[in-house]
Amino acid sequence: MTTRRATITSLGRFVPEKVLTNDELERMVETSNDWILERTGIQERHIAEKGVATSDLAVAAAREILARRGLEPDDIDVIIVGTVTPDTIFPSTACRVQDKLGASRAWGFDLSAACCGFLYALTTGAQLVASGAHERALVIGGDVMSSIINYQDRSTCILFGDGAGGVLLEASEDDEGGVIDFNNWVDGSGAQFLHMPGGGSLNPPTAETIRKRMHYVHQDGRQVFKFAVRQGAAASLELLKRNGYSSSDVSLLVAHQANQRIIDATAERLGLPPEKVIKNIQKFGNTTAGTIPLALWDAHEEGRLNKGDLVLLCAVGAGYTVGSCLIRWTGLRTA
Ligand SMILES: CC(C)(COP(=O)(O)OP(=O)(O)OC[C@H]1O[C@@H](n2cnc3c(N)ncnc32)[C@H](O)[C@@H]1OP(=O)(O)O)[C@@H](O)C(=O)NCCC(=O)NCCS
Repeated sequence: MTTRRATITSLGRFVPEKVLTNDELERMVETSNDWILERTGIQERHIAEKGVATSDLAVAAAREILARRGLEPDDIDVIIVGTVTPDTIFPSTACRVQDKLGASRAWGFDLSAACCGFLYALTTGAQLVASGAHERALVIGGDVMSSIINYQDRSTCILFGDGAGGVLLEASEDDEGGVIDFNNWVDGSGAQFLHMPGGGSLNPPTAETIRKRMHYVHQDGRQVFKFAVRQGAAASLELLKRNGYSSSDVSLLVAHQANQRIIDATAERLGLPPEKVIKNIQKFGNTTAGTIPLALWDAHEEGRLNKGDLVLLCAVGAGYTVGSCLIRWTGLRTA
């Protein structure tokens, strides 16, 4: 009996036009272009205009995904949006995407896993396709991080940007190709190190929570850094091993783009040379759930995703959430 697997058949992305450079940040907080470049690798990030929400970015990415594949919105069965900046707490961003896109047959939901949002959405969507429940899953990761960032806090405002990307999942036509396996886990004891304390049921928004700036991202960067370097590589090594692969089998590492030093350290732990690692953090910063699909998009444009390649995705984020996914690239299906 052959195994039905999900595979990525189309890609799309959207980043807002407006750019926030390190030079501009120098004028907003006590920082410097040199510090940001050296400590993070980020040169600039894109920022959405007021009134532009995560669903707007997601819909634009979805339109590219459908156009590339030559499909209509009605062809989609399910929409999963990984995000920590939904348009509203409810209804979900996925519902808004469904409506704006006109995907009349689709159900959908948001998936909250911070920087692992896309990876968890991808691995969830892959199960819906692999099981035969659905033929086409639209999986988007995107965030308007500028809506929850305090632009007076230099330790966070330099890191994040806005953007979304996504993929279409369909059944693979060959037995070997597609999403092979994934290794996701959480360590909820790390919640305190990266979180938005206000706005939910624990601390509903009041004048007091606003005054205390609890509606912004709070982070202990050093703790997150250490955890990310250790756990992203650990999840990936375990995943490779249990599938009978070693690092030398990997063609490309597509890691969450949080900090260039985290990506470099993860690649080093995995024994992967720079030419097997995609980096685009310099132009987008950390777009949270957006980074992996934005990096996949660039990798594809640069001709670094070829049929038969073993592609390793890896992310660590708030929660803590940890994830890793192995894909045998089958190539996109174009219109
Ligand atoms: C945030 C981060 C870039 C900070 O880099 P770091 O090398 O760990 O720096 P530290 O936090 O140790 O701070 C070093 C010094 O730089 C200062 N600093 C922090 N932000 C600064 C900035 N934007 N500009 C200049 N100086 C800054 C700190 O105040 C500190 O000064 P001190 O030594 O006088 O206290 C880094 O910790 C990081 O990337 N962490 C992971 C964050 C992340 O990826 N989050 C998303 C999760 S997926």
